Amino acid sequence: MIERFPGLLLLTLILAGCSADEHDHPELVSGKQLYDYHCAGCHREDGSGLFLKGVPANRDTDLSAWQIMHKVKEGEEGESESRMPVFARMPEQEATRIAVYLKQLGRN
Ligand code: HEC
Repeated sequence: MIERFPGLLLLTLILAGCSADEHDHPELVSGKQLYDYHCAGCHREDGSGLFLKGVPANRDTDLSAWQIMHKVKEGEEGESESRMPVFARMPEQEATRIAVYLKQLGRN
């Protein structure tokens, strides 16, 4: 089936490659792996942010793990102009792992 539609496959790959919300990565399991993949591009691996690009540090955020999870998946309540992408397709379990990892990162 896929061999018969190479164009479709290519298109899917292109679309997926452009999206920050790419969710086909069974090889990523731990909170660190998932964070590095989805978040570090903006917030850096150590969570210190990219000041020049207007990305704040997130390692010492006041948000709780639950609030981080919510922000990542749905955006923060009452915050209409956030420049942070919403990862609507991210599975809850994955968002939880990332949130827990981030809270732990802030403690070090
Ligand atoms: C495209 C860049 C980008 C990506 C990718 C990104 N963020 Fe953000 N993040 C931002 C920006 C910009 C802000 C500041 C605006 C806001 O709070 O929405 C922010 C804010 C935050 C905050 C609030 C920090 C504070 O001051 O309390 C947390 C927590 C956070 N991000 C976590 C994450 C997590 C977890 C991921 C990965 C799932 C992620 N971010 C991916 C750009 C990004």
